[in-house]
This record gives sequence, structure tokens and C-alpha cells, in this order.
Amino acid sequence: MSDPVAAAWQQLASLPRPRLSELFADPERLARLSSRLDLPGGAIRFDWSKTHLDAAHIAGFEALAEAVGFKKARGAMFAGEPINVTEGRAVEHTAQRGIGRDSTVEEANALHARMAGLVAAIHGGALGEVRHLIHIGIGGSALGPALALDALTRDGAVVDVQVVANIDGCALEAAFAKCDPATTLVAVASKTFTTTETMTNAMSALAWLKENGVEDPYGRVVALTANPEKAVEWGVDETRVLPFTESVGGRYSLWSSIGFPVALALGMDEFAELLDGAAAMDRHFLQAEGAANLPLRAAFADLTYARLRGCQTRAVFAYDERLRLFPSYLQQLEMESNGKAVKADGHPVDGATAPITWGGVGTDAQHAVFQLLHQGTHVVPVDFIACIAAGDELSAEHHRNLLANCFAQGAALMAGKAAEDPARAYPGDRPSATILCEELNAATLGALIAFHEHRTFANAVLMEINAFDQFGVELGKEIAKSIGTAGAQFDASTSALLAEAGLA
Ligand code: F6P
Repeated sequence: MSDPVAAAWQQLASLPRPRLSELFADPERLARLSSRLDLPGGAIRFDWSKTHLDAAHIAGFEALAEAVGFKKARGAMFAGEPINVTEGRAVEHTAQRGIGRDSTVEEANALHARMAGLVAAIHGGALGEVRHLIHIGIGGSALGPALALDALTRDGAVVDVQVVANIDGCALEAAFAKCDPATTLVAVASKTFTTTETMTNAMSALAWLKENGVEDPYGRVVALTANPEKAVEWGVDETRVLPFTESVGGRYSLWSSIGFPVALALGMDEFAELLDGAAAMDRHFLQAEGAANLPLRAAFADLTYARLRGCQTRAVFAYDERLRLFPSYLQQLEMESNGKAVKADGHPVDGATAPITWGGVGTDAQHAVFQLLHQGTHVVPVDFIACIAAGDELSAEHHRNLLANCFAQGAALMAGKAAEDPARAYPGDRPSATILCEELNAATLGALIAFHEHRTFANAVLMEINAFDQFGVELGKEIAKSIGTAGAQFDASTSALLAEAGLA
């Protein structure tokens, strides 16, 4: 066969499939597939030993990485080459963390300094007393700040932040109920500054401020955007516009001025720690080779399940209440990046692409969905994420039990259990990976997110797809906009629904 990529996939597909219990006969397995990485916020263990990766699969995927030009693609991303080919853009979220093309790193540093200046001014009282921030954004302009704030502000914050995404007015009303208009700022977070949900919510927030006695509502707005001209045109004073660079994608934008609410709530130092943790993971991803590269190794396992074994979903369970939003953050990162059916060159893909990412928080999920994981007909590769240091100050019993349950689930999925009664038997041989952090802090969270960004990118490179566009979200938006306009035509079902709801 002349196509080396097709040959690598064919070789992978032909490999024997030993059970996990057989793989553990190798005494070196744990050392080879469970690695501890020292990071600024404390070490993180990445244990991929309970997946079906064996020496043959690793060699096969390393050959695939070579065939698709993984090293070149990785270098091109960090060098700021326009690897987002469909949009002709560079992909430079790592430069926000100091790792990337010099000119972009310099620009990011300058923009962060501008953000630090505004944060310091607000903390210093330049905008009067500020106790609340309503952060309005959607998708990548909301999920990162929401995750970071939920994970890191449990002990309280300088400013209370409400993140509002949905155009459903109930979301904004819920935020209003928690805020005092006299001490509230509004952050309008939108890369494009045109997103319908965000701009509609922003207008309603201004109206709410006005109705509640704020004389100059625009004076209470901070804009976070890659389209600063649009924000100024909309009415935000230039001094309160925090721009970021176009080459930072929406779902990769937490590191840019989109992280403003995190910096305001926790302080600029903690925001810098978030960036440092991510930068340490960037360095690892840039320097480690083959399966020693942890995001790449994770991608090898992801593709083993998605492409070689037909698993249509993957699940992520955070055994840590502070990370309860992590699965929904990953949903956008993975599904919006890699839910594609064509390769970067426009040709159809050669097999399944991103699985459906789903998940929840442990131990809650054990009492709800784990039945299917253990005994259902679908094999779902699972990631467990946990922290050794407790986030709570209650009796140690809570955290001991939390971790014991996390580890027990991985062990049970793999071992299974024979029983005479088929209803009580567990097939076992079900894969899982465990990410175990020493503790959860801003740096650890940064590293965790960056690990998943690079894992998603590595998956895309191995599948030869462009992870950085998202044209699939456009058609529905266009149709929604056309509703109510003259001449708009719909199918019979949609027309009837529109008529019944009074939208025709
Ligand atoms: O609809 C998808 C999307 O473009 C996401 O990729 C993005 O994070 C989100 O909408 C919000 O876009 P913006 O930041 O431009 O408002």
C-alpha cells in the first residue's frame, strides 16, 4: 500500500486485542503507562494503564503520528503558522501563556498588562464600589470563566461573578436576583461582538441598570473581545475595552481577556498562576516525544476506542465537586473542535471522529448512570479526575470515601465479576484512565485544561482534521435569524411549530 497513513491505520486495525487483565501480566505496564508530571501547582498523575494501549498499539500509533506529520503540525501551531486552513488563521492560545511566536507572546503580554491595569483600577475603586460582575458570553466566551470561577472561588472572592450565557431571559433574571445594581459591573464577552445571545443579554443588562437608578449604564460595562472597534461602536468606552488577538479561538480563549472575570474575582496573581500551569503543560507537549507525550498518549487511547473499537461516546467523571463543570467545558472543546466529517484537505474522513463527550460528578453519577457503564451493551471509555488534597474542611471521612469510590470504579470496570445469575454478572475489561492531582489550584486547573486542549489537537492531527473551525454551528443560526422575515420558507413540521408558538 502506497499511502503511509492508510497503511498505519490498517496495521492498527489488524492488531490482536488482549484483555486488560492479560495486559497487566506485564510487570512494566504501570511504569510505562502511569506517569507523574511535576507541575507548578503540584504533581499530576496520568494513569492510562487501564486502557487497551499495549506496546503494539503504541508502536502503531507512533507510526501513524509519523505518517501524518504530527511533529511538523505541532511545531506549526506553536510557530503561529496558519494551521486553521479553512479560515486562514494561526492558532495561538498557547502564546497567551507565553509559549509561541515571539511577536504574539509580546502582544499577549501587553494585553494582559492592560487587563491587569483595569483590574487594579477597579479593585482600587476607580469605578466606585464593585461587589458584583455579570459576565455575559456564550460558548467559549463563558464556559472557561464559569469553570475557573466555580473551581477556584469556593472560599469566596473579591467580586462575586454571575456568568450568563443563555438567551432565555430566565438566565439573566437569575443573575439580576443575586446582584445589587448600584455595585454591579457588566462584562460583555464576545470574540466577534456580534453573537445574538450575548448582545441581547447585554442590552437587557443595560436596561436593568438604567431601570434601577444607574445613570450611565454604559459606564458600567467592560468589553472582552477580538473586535474592539465593534465594542466601541456599540458604546463601551475605549478604556474599558480589553481586546484579544484574532488567532485565539473562542473555545481556547480563557487565557486571553476572556479571563477578565477570573482576574477580577481572584486577583491577577492567581490568573497568572492559571497561565503558568498551562504553560508547563505546553512545554511538556512541545518537548516530549511519542507515547511519553501525555496528551498524545491520551489521543492514542481515544482513537483506539473511537476508531478501532467503534465506541461512540466517552465519559468524564470529576470526583471533585469543584470540577463539576469540567465535563461541560470538555464537551465544547472536544465536540466543537473534532466533530467533523471532512479532513483539513476537504476529503471525507477515514473513520469515526470525535466521540460524544459526556459525564458528570462522582459520586453522584454512580447512583445514576454507572449501571450502563458496568453492564450496558455500550463500551464507554471513562476518564476519572480526582485530587488527593481535599477541598472541604469537614471530617476526613468525606474525602477518603470520595477517592475510594473513584478508584473502586476504575478497578470494577476493569475486573468485572462472574456470577451464575447473568443479571448479577459484570463483563469487565472496560477501560478507564485516571488523572490524579496532588491538589486543585489555579496552576493545576491551567495544566488540566491545557492537557485537554493538546489532547484534542493531537486527536485532530492523527485524524487529519482541522480542529479550529466550527462551521457546523452556522446553519441553525442562519435559519433562526430568517424566522419572521418575509419570504422565509420552512418544512411542514417547522412551519406548524412556528405557527403554534405565534412566530410565523
Ligand atoms: O456558535 C459557536 C461559537 O462561535 C463558539 O465557537 C464561540 O465560543 C461562541 O460561539 C461565542 O462566540 P463569540 O465569542 O464571538 O460571542
